[in-house]
Amino acid sequence: MNISSADFVISNVDVSKCPDTKLPEYAFIGRSNVGKSSLINTLTNRKSLAMTSSKPGKTLLINHFIINSEWHLVDLPGYGFAQAGKGQRDKLRKMIESYILLRQQLTNLFVLIDCRHEAQQIDLEFINWLGESGVPFSIVFTKADKLSGSKLNENISAYKTKLQEVWDELPPVFITSSSNGKGREELLDYIDSINKD
Ligand code: GTP
Ligand code: MG
Repeated sequence: MNISSADFVISNVDVSKCPDTKLPEYAFIGRSNVGKSSLINTLTNRKSLAMTSSKPGKTLLINHFIINSEWHLVDLPGYGFAQAGKGQRDKLRKMIESYILLRQQLTNLFVLIDCRHEAQQIDLEFINWLGESGVPFSIVFTKADKLSGSKLNENISAYKTKLQEVWDELPPVFITSSSNGKGREELLDYIDSINKD
């Protein structure tokens, strides 16, 4: 898919104030620092459309971007940021959960997982909650440039095995790097195929 335009629309704390349109929407979620905002920049080929940081807890709002005047990309805050106080973690959790459950335009949620780590309880619980809630989602492994090919394959197979302990059918899985663009075309083609359905 060719990205001819990508623009910031609005930031919100409240799902009811998100853009009132019928455009299909694709959102990015995952632990703080997993690379959600970076992947949005990579997909759109824009250096700083979404704000990124080496410190976790950068994105704290629901951020809408309009792509090709046809669909929205949404950058969400991360979950599980240990250094945030419990009050802030609870507030962010409610914001994320209400966005995911109430936003009718949400067409697919991309759940980002750092390919370097073993499956973490917080991600597995989140994925199970999505499945139980009937939310359409895909898994996106990030930071693939940080591992050798064989270690990458090993980690991803192990992750799939872990998911298969609970789910008979795996969701679509993508392997990406915002540093070298790996997986960019596949993700954009996937979005394109859903948009055309
Ligand atoms: P929060 O908004 O805090 O939840 O984080 P985020 O998930 O949006 O992460 P962000 O995109 O801000 O990236 C966090 C850090 O990881 C930054 O220092 C990025 O440069 C780095 N990073 C993100 N993606 C990649 C990647 O594919 N490869 C490498 N090597 N670094 C990455
Ligand atoms: Mg971010």
